[in-house]
Amino acid sequence: VEQQLAYIRSTVTSIQDYPKPGIVFRDITSTLADAKALRLILDVMTERYQDQGLTQIAGIEARGFIFAAALADRLGCGMTLVRKKGKLPRAVHSQSYSLEYGNDTLELHQDALNRNDRVLLIDDLLATGGTMRAAADLVAHSGATVVEAAFLIELKSLPGRERIEQSGVPCYAICAYD
Ligand code: PRP
Ligand code: HPA
Repeated sequence: VEQQLAYIRSTVTSIQDYPKPGIVFRDITSTLADAKALRLILDVMTERYQDQGLTQIAGIEARGFIFAAALADRLGCGMTLVRKKGKLPRAVHSQSYSLEYGNDTLELHQDALNRNDRVLLIDDLLATGGTMRAAADLVAHSGATVVEAAFLIELKSLPGRERIEQSGVPCYAICAYD
């Protein structure tokens, strides 16, 4: 398992000074392009979640969708879309969250989930946790159970994990960076 995680990690590209000076951007396009890494990510997540009684995998726009769809297929679950505002056509629940500059809003169809659902939330990367916290609040508002919030990458220099765990949602990441 350690070897698998090390291999996955080796495929992430680190880009200095993007999008701004002083920021190291962790780019997963190189990971997605690597067939072995992509399969290993899904193997690790399938192993972790296959016996959790999940009914829906909720992906967060945009890069969360990639992993959510593939994992839903592996686990025999449906996929739920948590989208940026204005993209979902029917009645939605909305939740605003803070960005570095200003605010954004995530939405979930009101009828997407119900109290019988056991939901895994998934995104590519955890930074401040604002996005995932808003998504978890949306799922909870729908009456469903949030089983865990899962990421490919966690940035440890930011208090993202604390922000999510504070709301009672466990947090899991395959790779961590300082
Ligand atoms: C990135 C990333 C997460 C979020 C993490 O998405 O994919 O969704 O930011 O940041 P946070 O923990 O500080 O909230 P982005 O907003 O760039 O959107 P995109 O995936 O649609 O490009
Ligand atoms: N990589 C990708 N998305 C991100 C990052 C990053 O380093 N930080 C915040 N969103």
